[in-house]
Amino acid sequence: MTLRVNATHARAERGLDPYWTPPEATRALLQIERLPQNNWEPACGNGAIAKVLRSAGRAVLSSDIARYDGFEPDFVADYLTAPVPHGVQAVVTNPPFKLAIEFVAKAIIDAPYVALLLRLNFLESVRRLPFFRKTPPARIWVSSRRLPMMQRLGWDGRQAPSNHCFAWFVWERGAAAAEIKWFDWGNSDDSNGPGDFE
Ligand SMILES: C[S@@+](CC[C@H](N)C(=O)[O-])C[C@H]1O[C@@H](n2cnc3c(N)ncnc32)[C@H](O)[C@@H]1O
Repeated sequence: MTLRVNATHARAERGLDPYWTPPEATRALLQIERLPQNNWEPACGNGAIAKVLRSAGRAVLSSDIARYDGFEPDFVADYLTAPVPHGVQAVVTNPPFKLAIEFVAKAIIDAPYVALLLRLNFLESVRRLPFFRKTPPARIWVSSRRLPMMQRLGWDGRQAPSNHCFAWFVWERGAAAAEIKWFDWGNSDDSNGPGDFE
């Protein structure tokens, strides 16, 4: 059975994190990165990212765990269990934030190139520390200017600037890791912690 979500269900479906990426963010990505041709948007929502990529000439397979009014995904699937379609060169999305680490962990196996729009505070958290140490991103593009607010499903009000700082996090197989380091001041065994010089 397919979950169909429209504005009247918006409140009940908050758990899916139905917020739409402003087109400015995807247009910027196209300028700062050389995106592969065959992309998968596996949490496509109302197609906010997929539409911009397609209009720039990229092929985009779109899927989501739910269907939203106004956009028909190529297929409906839970990304975390979905097999990667043949020929996918890149995964590009703005995932549900609470599943972001699970999305990245799968995406870097699914494709050699991954670009995820995430809040900058994704860099934080002791839970994510082991993942970052093992698989740091190749590049992090911080949006110095606040993006317009992500539009919530059903929202037709004013477009205010976002309360959060967002960045494009890019993992690229074979690329050197970005020069970012993490320390955990609460863990005295942490080899990169206070007292160590690198
Ligand atoms: C923050 S919205 C972003 C939508 C779209 N990527 C964009 O940038 O506008 C997160 C999307 O993830 C979808 N989603 C949530 N859990 C998912 C899952 N396990 N697999 C696939 N999509 C999921 C939601 O339905 C929602 O459309």
